Amino acid sequence: MSRVAEQYRRACQSLAGGVSSSTRLNRAVGHAMYFDRAAGCRLWDLDDREYIDLCTSHGATLLGHGDVRVRQAVERALARGAACSYENEQHAELAELLCDVIPCFERVRFTGSGTEATMHCIRLARAFTGRTKLLKFEGNFHGYHDQVMFAIGTPADQLGPDERPNPFPGSTGMVQALADQVVLVPYNRVDLLEQAFAEHGHELAAVIGEPVYYNAGCIIPSEEFVSALRELTVQNGVLLIFDEVLSAFRMGLGGAQEYLAVMPDLCTLGKAVGGGYPLSVFGGRKDIMDRLMPIGDCQHSGTYNGHPVVVAAALAAINAYRQPGFYDHIHAVAGLLHDGLTALFAKHGVAAHVQGLGARFGIYFGLKGPARNYRDAVQHQREQMLRFIKAAIGHGVYFHDYGGAACHHGFCAAMTVDDVHEVLRRLDLAIQSLRGAKSRLTTETQ
Ligand SMILES: Cc1ncc(COP(=O)(O)O)c(C=O)c1O
Repeated sequence: MSRVAEQYRRACQSLAGGVSSSTRLNRAVGHAMYFDRAAGCRLWDLDDREYIDLCTSHGATLLGHGDVRVRQAVERALARGAACSYENEQHAELAELLCDVIPCFERVRFTGSGTEATMHCIRLARAFTGRTKLLKFEGNFHGYHDQVMFAIGTPADQLGPDERPNPFPGSTGMVQALADQVVLVPYNRVDLLEQAFAEHGHELAAVIGEPVYYNAGCIIPSEEFVSALRELTVQNGVLLIFDEVLSAFRMGLGGAQEYLAVMPDLCTLGKAVGGGYPLSVFGGRKDIMDRLMPIGDCQHSGTYNGHPVVVAAALAAINAYRQPGFYDHIHAVAGLLHDGLTALFAKHGVAAHVQGLGARFGIYFGLKGPARNYRDAVQHQREQMLRFIKAAIGHGVYFHDYGGAACHHGFCAAMTVDDVHEVLRRLDLAIQSLRGAKSRLTTETQ
């Protein structure tokens, strides 16, 4: 038995489901992956097999694994004793840096996960507006608290009509009554957004959305959709929350809000903001953020908020993203990788469509045209994707399956042009290995 298989068997005896986080099981291979070490864009498993990483810790390690600048900052914080639950001078330094680079930030707060960041933003929006309802886009993902887990992975046959998507719960155990507080609209549908505002605009505290919908691979909102979103929220006194947990730093320093040139009222950051360490951030307009205790009346607190180790890591990571040429490199690698994948699928006649922006992308098997929202993405051929991912892993390219509709993949800044060529060479072999009758990928003509 391989050490990876043995470790999974052992973990299942004490960890529920063998994992620390449900989505850590990679269904393409039927077990969690166990990595012994990692450096740059590469990972080595317990059996010493090497992989080029196209998951990048679900997007957290944008700089690559073991970045020396982040590691040294962490080591310095540890050497100072890492006294947590107190403030030090780096909290204000990081807050200033974030207010400098993220357009909507006038004030920020630190939390531990993306889930906490969206939870606190929503409470704050309710406190500020005195309203309770939340407009959310079907399929957009905002973490694991009950209020945002409706319609995150609705099966294709239970979507309901376009005008009234089914608030399908993302888990058992959720309080179903919370569904009454959510207005659901398919992403990128201006007509249905206007309709929802005509009906519910006066009772909405906030709209929360992924400004680039990476959780379904990579779906960029249309200009009309983004403008309508901002106009309708302003007209109706509704706060606009951009959940940039996945999109921030991906295509530019100022995140999707800078890329789309739209200023939300509040926004959340997670994943890449901590440079691979567990930090998340929420922030926005000063008048809204001043509703937080101790100045205001809305609670946000936590023992490990702004832990000195993760604050130090975030300072090092953001300063690395600020280096001249950082995003030129990201976009050069993105162009090469996304075009290379498209050409590879075309060469093999595989019906797969690649959509990417900056350092993340999605691959949609079997879709005829571009995916514009969850309703399109959920039509992709999941079984094909699992076969592809399994073959890719077998040939040394790590893709993760999150268990949902489409998946998001990505690369880190440590990836070189040579690494991209190596990824494409390995994937060429992986696709060739699937030519066997049973497991082959669907071709354009099928
Ligand atoms: C857009 C978005 N929001 C929130 C979250 C939740 O973040 P976390 O897993 O850190 O709680 C995620 C995680 O994937 C995310 O992609």
